[in-house]
Amino acid sequence: MHQQYSYEEVLSAAERFAWRVEDLIGGERRLDFSKPFLPDSLARTEGMVWLTPGQRRVANQIRGAGYLHMFGLVEEFILPFVLDHVRPHLNHDDCRVRSFLSFAAEEAKHIQLFRRFREEFDGGFGTACGMIGPSDAIGRKVLSHHPLAVSLLVLHIEWMTQRHFLDSVQDDETLDPQFKSLLRHHWMEEVRHAKLDTLMAEAIAAECSAKEREDSVRGYLEIGAFLDGGLRTQAELDADSFTKATGRSLSATERDMFVAATHQALRWTFIGSGMSHANFLATADRVHPGAAAQLKTVVPAFC
Ligand SMILES: [Fe+2]
Ligand SMILES: [Fe+2]
Repeated sequence: MHQQYSYEEVLSAAERFAWRVEDLIGGERRLDFSKPFLPDSLARTEGMVWLTPGQRRVANQIRGAGYLHMFGLVEEFILPFVLDHVRPHLNHDDCRVRSFLSFAAEEAKHIQLFRRFREEFDGGFGTACGMIGPSDAIGRKVLSHHPLAVSLLVLHIEWMTQRHFLDSVQDDETLDPQFKSLLRHHWMEEVRHAKLDTLMAEAIAAECSAKEREDSVRGYLEIGAFLDGGLRTQAELDADSFTKATGRSLSATERDMFVAATHQALRWTFIGSGMSHANFLATADRVHPGAAAQLKTVVPAFC
């Protein structure tokens, strides 16, 4: 196994660049509902030209609330997964243990961060937005897969977060500043998580047979298909939330268009952008040679 990252380096960065939830939201730090929350490359609401600009902005903000919910949801199963990974080795290498514990503490902080933003959103948006769940049932289903399959998914999520910020968010000056700050601060810590997840996936793979490694790539794809079913449901819920928030009823054709565009946007945001990340593919291919080519044939459906 090739390892390009070290626990020492990650730990040292974690100690130097820390931030608190209250630095990002609360008090004077409010969401500005006159602005979009997500870049359009993720929300894809500007393509709905049959809606007014104001309605497209509301659709974008509903997508923003969904982003907060989805990240809260995935962090809730990442946290116990990381703790389970480090628990058998608590007496070993100090830096390794400390870096995974700091990873877990940061994910616990992120859960709180997304929840606080969600409260702020719910307080200002005016109507309730439906979200898929319950989170613990979804988490249990994901965690029922082989740890190597789960670690590939977690690695996908970490690289995906970075891609969202670097490719879409950092140069977008139209976004709500608080939401942008959330995405930037989350990215700052996910950079380190991606490195630790690479080390974690490689450590788990080192204990696995070739057959288990091959099966874990299939398991990763099965989790992806399961989550995609949830994204489809979320797209339907977003259409309901849109009508409730704007009072704009959708004809059957318009609703189909809304749901299809939203589902594909969610597929890119949560599946395609992670699965196609070069660093993720490189690790998947080290886990099981040939995995990258296999995954690249799946990616177009999620773009
Ligand atoms: Fe996170
Ligand atoms: Fe993370």
